Amino acid sequence: GFTKSSFNMYTYIKEDLEERDMFYKGLFPPNFAWGAATSAYQIEGGWNEDGKGPSIWDDYSHEWKITKNQTGDIACDSYHRYKEDVQMLKKLGVSHYRFSIAWSRIMADGTLNSLNKKGIDYYNNLINELLAYNIQPMVTLYHWDLPSALQKTDGWKDPEIVDKFAKYAEVCFVNFGDRVKFWITINEPFVVSWLGHGIGIMAPGVKEPAIGVYNVTHNIIKSHVKVYHLYNEKFRSRQHGKVGITLDCDWKEPLTYDAMDRYSAERSLKFKLGWFADPIFGQGDYPAVMKRFVARKSEQQGYSNSRLPEFTDEEKKQNKGAADFLGLNHYTTNLVGYKNRDNENSSYEADQDTVLSFDPCWNKSESDWLRVNPWGIRKLLKWIKNRYRSPVIYVTENGVSDDGQMDDVSRQRYYTKYINEILKSIKLDNVDVRGYMAWSLMDNFEWGSGFTQKFGLYHVDFDIDSRPRTPKASTVTYSKIIKDNGFH
Ligand code: NOJ
Repeated sequence: GFTKSSFNMYTYIKEDLEERDMFYKGLFPPNFAWGAATSAYQIEGGWNEDGKGPSIWDDYSHEWKITKNQTGDIACDSYHRYKEDVQMLKKLGVSHYRFSIAWSRIMADGTLNSLNKKGIDYYNNLINELLAYNIQPMVTLYHWDLPSALQKTDGWKDPEIVDKFAKYAEVCFVNFGDRVKFWITINEPFVVSWLGHGIGIMAPGVKEPAIGVYNVTHNIIKSHVKVYHLYNEKFRSRQHGKVGITLDCDWKEPLTYDAMDRYSAERSLKFKLGWFADPIFGQGDYPAVMKRFVARKSEQQGYSNSRLPEFTDEEKKQNKGAADFLGLNHYTTNLVGYKNRDNENSSYEADQDTVLSFDPCWNKSESDWLRVNPWGIRKLLKWIKNRYRSPVIYVTENGVSDDGQMDDVSRQRYYTKYINEILKSIKLDNVDVRGYMAWSLMDNFEWGSGFTQKFGLYHVDFDIDSRPRTPKASTVTYSKIIKDNGFH
């Protein structure tokens, strides 16, 4: 650990800053889950093979909305090459693999009428191959690829999505739950909601920032909660698995120590993470500041009710505690400052009177939203621990993009430093982190940016039909951390 000498404000701050950047030697708890992550649309390809129905991402990319008009039609071709993926995982030495199921591969139109045996076979084969090499599957049910047929009836905006999602989840529990012990219902609902239905830069490309986003989130939370209770009632006693949800959040560092900046940063965290986490891991309802803020704005804008929907008391009870773990996707930090204005339609509700920026010291990546600030993850984990009374946390994604070099020095540094900060969280802050999934196992389809931003531990050559995979230098770094279970 660290020592603090006599209390003097100057040395205190100075040591605090030094401690922040110091490397901590030590080990992770035994049985810590080490893994790598991917998602179906980003790697599988085989977009219309063997009875798979189209998804909103097939549609969106086929409308040429992606950089260089790229699509995920073939992607890494994992639909045919999953055995190679498992070998790559084996070489890394991971204990877990996080991947997602494409809803429309196993239910072409999203309903039980279109159950697709070949799609189910694919995931059974993948799961069995993983287990043959002693790698535990961690399965995301929804990583953004809604069956197109369901979008025709308004997708996540339609309250009936809740029952439809539960039926799909049940098919997954029935078919795979004997072997899958980690379930993540929904990946990054903020992205589904705000980027998909607010500013519309992700499928389905809907632009309804005022009301649509709040209804979508309401339905997403209800869907998750319903599936959690379904698992408890029908599957838990036989299958003994865990069901969680994966939320994304950057750390929000106040621009200065000024009270308004600190207030804005805190509010930003509540609007981004709290929107989803407060109902499930907190008091069963949206954050108080969010209810006040949206109600006040709605009134100013002439709405007769708040644009933020309400949970009934019964729903609040169901929400509260409806997860076995919190999955966290974390990549970067924003500086948040208060700015007294209210005129930017492109920024998310509470951030409208906020300035978001980066510290110029933080290294850039290939993605403009991602700057490297390792201590951000430690501060965020502590914030989550305090606000939600120490939930079980799995870091379900963390990683950095570059332009694809094999000697990926920036990725080696990123993993080393971020993982070291997580170790500090566990050892020094007593945060209950149980696992870490690197994003990503291999270069893949980075949504709106196509194949231009590379996050992989393995390089994939997208110009060659066989999509050859080659380990980058970071595979050595990450394998060593896993093998040592930390830092000697
Ligand atoms: C989060 C998403 O879950 C994943 O699909 C994406 O590729 C990474 N962030 C990197 O942007």
